Amino acid sequence: PRCIWLSRHGESAFNLTGKIGGDSDLSARGREYARQLPQLVKMSVGDRPLTVWTSTLKRTQQTAKYLPYRQLTWKALDELDAGQCDGLTYEEIENRYPDDFAARDENKYEYRYPGGESYRDVVVRLEPIIMELERQENIMIVTHQAVLRCIYAYFMNVSQDQSPWMEVPLHTLIKLEPKAYGTEVIRIKADI
Ligand code: G3H
Repeated sequence: PRCIWLSRHGESAFNLTGKIGGDSDLSARGREYARQLPQLVKMSVGDRPLTVWTSTLKRTQQTAKYLPYRQLTWKALDELDAGQCDGLTYEEIENRYPDDFAARDENKYEYRYPGGESYRDVVVRLEPIIMELERQENIMIVTHQAVLRCIYAYFMNVSQDQSPWMEVPLHTLIKLEPKAYGTEVIRIKADI
């Protein structure tokens, strides 16, 4: 039976400083995750054929770079666009744009960053990805937190507006196996 593997990119320089968005490189820990990933994946995938999908951002490609499988890059897998808040920390957003900060807290699914996206926008732009995933065999997706939350909610049959609250931690490989009665999940945490 076919499976889907999900992983966030390894810890990035922006993750370390609490900044959102951007296109930063992996941190030392993130690079360590990238080095461990092939073994982690191999343990779970075995000898099955696999294709790896990444976003266009450096941190996902740096995370996937040692994986010995065919790789494909999708713009639709890029992180939720934080618009004018891109590159800021949550504290800076709260100070500079208090109304926006409160509005997002009020309705995180619908809230759209000025000049950027909402979770709902991400769900919509993921439609072609989901359609392609439904047609494909074994796929591993290395992408970003908000994007993975939406993909995860879809396969877990959780209402899309709950996407912002799905738990998708760093340095954890998630295996999804869609079955007739629902999706089986196995989480494999890297030892970093
Ligand atoms: O900037 C996007 C983050 O990966 C998602 O975090 O939606 O909880 O702010 P957040």
